[in-house]
Amino acid sequence: MIILTGASGGIGREILPFLLDIDQVIGIYNKTKPQISSDEHLTYEQLNLESPSDIKIFIDKWKNKISKVTLIHFAALKIDSLAANCSESDWDRIMGVNLKGNFLLTQALLSKMIQERWGRIIHISSRGAVDGDTGTIAYSASKMGLIGMSNVLAKEYARFNITSNILILGHFEVGLYNQLNEGMQKKLLQQVPSKTLGKSIDIFNAIEFLIKSQYVNGASINIDGGI
Ligand SMILES: NC(=O)c1ccc[n+]([C@@H]2O[C@H](COP(=O)([O-])OP(=O)(O)OC[C@H]3O[C@@H](n4cnc5c(N)ncnc54)[C@H](OP(=O)(O)O)[C@@H]3O)[C@@H](O)[C@H]2O)c1
Repeated sequence: MIILTGASGGIGREILPFLLDIDQVIGIYNKTKPQISSDEHLTYEQLNLESPSDIKIFIDKWKNKISKVTLIHFAALKIDSLAANCSESDWDRIMGVNLKGNFLLTQALLSKMIQERWGRIIHISSRGAVDGDTGTIAYSASKMGLIGMSNVLAKEYARFNITSNILILGHFEVGLYNQLNEGMQKKLLQQVPSKTLGKSIDIFNAIEFLIKSQYVNGASINIDGGI
């Protein structure tokens, strides 16, 4: 069973059909209700990752129906502002989705993974966040925090056949990149040695590799066209 957060986002929507070829999928969205699909392998669930009680309700509903869980954390909140202007509430919301929500959902699924001696956890970070792009103070901090979180999970649960890895994404054709103005898009594209934007299939290929690979654990994989 694959649990995909951010299933309604730009990248999540494109990756979903590929994931359905390898397993059943629970696609998690928050505000953007996806078009209902008739695929018997796909279930959508609404879940606000800022809400610990939503996470608990989700886990209580599914814990006895899921097995061999791969958890892929695509959900993210990005609100841009210079550090001097970042409001406390924006900081808390970004951390609430990107870090705390990720942690609580992962933690809630760990006992199932330990019990089954199998689990795959895949976090998503960002090249721009690692490099410290201006205007992304809370987003960058949260995405760097995920690298630490992923590495700790890898060490703590390797003995249970559970892996935790993180994909560090460059600039992609869909999703957050499209929310930037044209000037910023041009500037970011200039950074890419291949001078092209990434495609979601490149991310799916890495996910499939991580699901199949027991001995790849605690890795950070750059998918960024060579930045
Ligand atoms: N696109 C890129 O070029 C790029 C580059 C680097 C890294 N990334 C990373 O790739 C991942 C996907 O990015 P994207 O471009 O597809 O982003 P996106 O289009 O903005 O999608 C964000 C997703 O996060 C979900 N989300 C936001 N707040 C939530 C909450 N409170 N609870 C549950 N879900 C919530 C959204 O759900 P709703 O719409 O339903 O609210 C949506 O599905 C992110 O982790 C991002 O940091 C993307």
